[in-house]
Amino acid sequence: MTTPQENARLEQIKRTWQQKRQITERLSTIKTKIGVYSGKGGVGKTTVAVNLAATLAQEGSKVGLLDVDIDCPNVTKVLGITEKADYVNGQIVPAEKWGVKVISMSFFQENEEEAIIWRGPMIHNAINQFLQSTDWGELDYLVVDMPPGTSDSPLTVMQTLPMDGFLVVSTPQELANIDAKRCINMIRKLNLNVVGIVENYTGEVFGQGGGENLAKEVGAPYLGALALRSAYQDNTRPTSLLDSEVGEEYAHLVDGLKKSLKEMGREPA
Ligand SMILES: Nc1ncnc2c1ncn2[C@@H]1O[C@H](COP(=O)(O)OP(=O)(O)OP(=O)(O)O)[C@@H](O)[C@H]1O
Ligand SMILES: [Mg+2]
Repeated sequence: MTTPQENARLEQIKRTWQQKRQITERLSTIKTKIGVYSGKGGVGKTTVAVNLAATLAQEGSKVGLLDVDIDCPNVTKVLGITEKADYVNGQIVPAEKWGVKVISMSFFQENEEEAIIWRGPMIHNAINQFLQSTDWGELDYLVVDMPPGTSDSPLTVMQTLPMDGFLVVSTPQELANIDAKRCINMIRKLNLNVVGIVENYTGEVFGQGGGENLAKEVGAPYLGALALRSAYQDNTRPTSLLDSEVGEEYAHLVDGLKKSLKEMGREPA
């Protein structure tokens, strides 16, 4: 005879197992999953995630963009998406813009200003729900805009979504990259890959070189610099599609990323 407590525990284990199986099934139609990550907020993660996704799509890949920056989801704002994701037969259908399928935590926010202060288990549940219910279809790449830092949120995302590798966004200033080093350590502690490091805000104002030095120090591929430019002020479309110089920077980043994935034994699409 099993006690009610034992029954409840068995039910819980069964549910967790089913959830895991469902997530694995869902993600099986996605070839490569890349997390865009940084040690600090505001270094340009969302910008890099959006422009990377748009460039991959422009080059002919099937691309999805998942915004799991739970506290501060703003991919939809950057992409100018006003509609929400659709719910069809119990499945979430991503919104689409610039050839990229998009799912954001902000779709599930009541209003834009609402602060999302979630604790670990709730974040875990929300991400699981996303991953279980979203119908991405066949994708070559899923680009994931990660929450910054080494707190609960990024850790939960890393443990729930099995990423092929992380693209770390750093800055030209060496001192600011102490946090980047910390987050690279976290990725490696979880036995995950750093697919490369990109330096953002390069130029006269902040200088250059921090990203490349960081890459050398941690033994990760350096995938190039993205200059600080006024072109990013125009948000009618992703800057990589708007400005040819930015387009070139991103084409170079995509080349490096694919090469690095290949070297890691993850065949890119
Ligand atoms: N290379 C660049 N040149 C000029 N402006 C940029 C560049 N990269 C990003 N920005 C701008 O800097 C601001 C912050 O960028 P973004 O929102 O991508 O950072 P983030 O790391 O995602 O921030 P958060 O941690 O808050 O999510 C945005 O207004 C963006 O347009
Ligand atoms: Mg962001």
